[in-house]
Amino acid sequence: MEVLSIGNKEHDELRQGEAYAGTPEKGSFSKHFYIESYGCAMNFADSEVVASILEKNGFGGTRNIEIADLILINTCSIREKAEQTVRKRLTEFRKLKKDKPGMLVGVLGCMAERLKSKLLEEEKLVDLVVGPDAYRSLPDLIGEAGTGQKAVNVLLSRDETYSDISPIRIDSNGISGFVSIMRGCNNMCSFCVVPFTRGRERSRDAFSIVAECRNLFEQGYKEVTLLGQNVDSYYWTHPETNESITFAMLLEMVACIDPSLRVRFSTSHPKDITDEVLFTMKKYHNICKYIHLPVQSGSSRVLQLMNRTYTREWYLSKVARIREIMPECSISADIIAGFCTETEEDHQDTISIMQIANYDYSYMYFYSERPGTLAAKRYTDDIPEEVKKRRLQEIVDVQWTLSNESNKRDLGKTFEVLVEGDSKKSDQDWMGRNSQNKVIVFPKENHSIQKGDYVQVLVTGCTKGTLMGTFKN
Ligand code: SAH
Ligand code: SF4
Ligand code: F3S
Repeated sequence: MEVLSIGNKEHDELRQGEAYAGTPEKGSFSKHFYIESYGCAMNFADSEVVASILEKNGFGGTRNIEIADLILINTCSIREKAEQTVRKRLTEFRKLKKDKPGMLVGVLGCMAERLKSKLLEEEKLVDLVVGPDAYRSLPDLIGEAGTGQKAVNVLLSRDETYSDISPIRIDSNGISGFVSIMRGCNNMCSFCVVPFTRGRERSRDAFSIVAECRNLFEQGYKEVTLLGQNVDSYYWTHPETNESITFAMLLEMVACIDPSLRVRFSTSHPKDITDEVLFTMKKYHNICKYIHLPVQSGSSRVLQLMNRTYTREWYLSKVARIREIMPECSISADIIAGFCTETEEDHQDTISIMQIANYDYSYMYFYSERPGTLAAKRYTDDIPEEVKKRRLQEIVDVQWTLSNESNKRDLGKTFEVLVEGDSKKSDQDWMGRNSQNKVIVFPKENHSIQKGDYVQVLVTGCTKGTLMGTFKN
């Protein structure tokens, strides 16, 4: 029980990854690649950039690993378990390779930098290792690996944003798409490996973002999620006009593409989300009223050790501001249990901040020390595993109660729902989300509703994590 999320099942895969993403077959290619993605939505979005680079270089995607000439695994390092999962997969790929000697196996993404020599030399598990900023060099590296050389490029860049590459959508429902707006992270949260795996923060050309969103809309997409580790610090300056674009301005530009294109974003750092962003959200009906606002801990002492740069009081004042400006906005969080030196009192502070912030749902983890991070260098990982697990369970229990109460408050309300497709359980039911990002399932009955439509749904019941409703004219 390392990773837990409560309240929004259909959303889990996005955050926790470990989900398989195959590439649909199309066109006639003589060579095929197969790609699996782990980790956060940004990694999934990167796989779509990789698919585009490979297709331009003669590789067609396949979901069938048996016919692949190239197997790629886009990896995550955020917690130890994520790395273990990847290693297990690589060992399985090695078996496949025995039967197909010409096949190449490549590691992409966040494990690349940290484990390059281990994977290539000590364990001989892979033929190529490519870091998140080096995907343009993939075609050359594949060529090198094909001649038996060890092909590696894990250089991090200060300016790569892949802004000119049009991603090929993988496993998309054709309704909601992810659009990367920035890369890397300049925050040095002491527990976090991301600044080391993804490098310095840089923002993508605002006009290329708007063009990508417009293009998705023209293809029939109804929702875009703007992605970055810290979207509120988005800041792009036009190289010729010197005009600067903030996140609030970018949100507005995307929202203005069309009122029927929903706009979401993730993730917001509490220190950076501004009133300007909140008022922009309020101004546009199509900017969804949902903010993912990771808290990590409710104790100011622990927050300081985590280097989150806000206190408990500051965080709570941000939550109060959101509720004041947009009372209907839902809020979710990420929470870490058992960070270094965490006392029972600190833990109780986390429980109480959850209750005060009244999260609609949360993603909850226990602390996993990552080599090279500030916390690994400075502090001892001194909370015993059973204590971490017990505290995590208590946090999860509190979230269950909060999510349940949140769902009950929605009973009898009518929401505008974007229909995303069949419900997971039955093709007799539709599944969609409201602006608050809550999943709502409702019977198809005989209406002429289609995937991608907006419909009014009355909430009549709820199960764990899902609202149930009926179609309302
Ligand atoms: N940029 C985002 C978070 C990205 S990582 C933000 O700042 O909010 C997603 C979540 O993984 C984090 O919010 C944190 O809760 C969790 N996480 C990161 N490093 C971790 C670690 N070493 N152990 C446990 N959980 C961790
Ligand atoms: Fe990691 Fe902090 Fe950056 Fe988020 S903001 S990616 S937690 S360093
Ligand atoms: Fe994992 Fe890298 Fe994302 S470490 S969470 S895939 S940025």
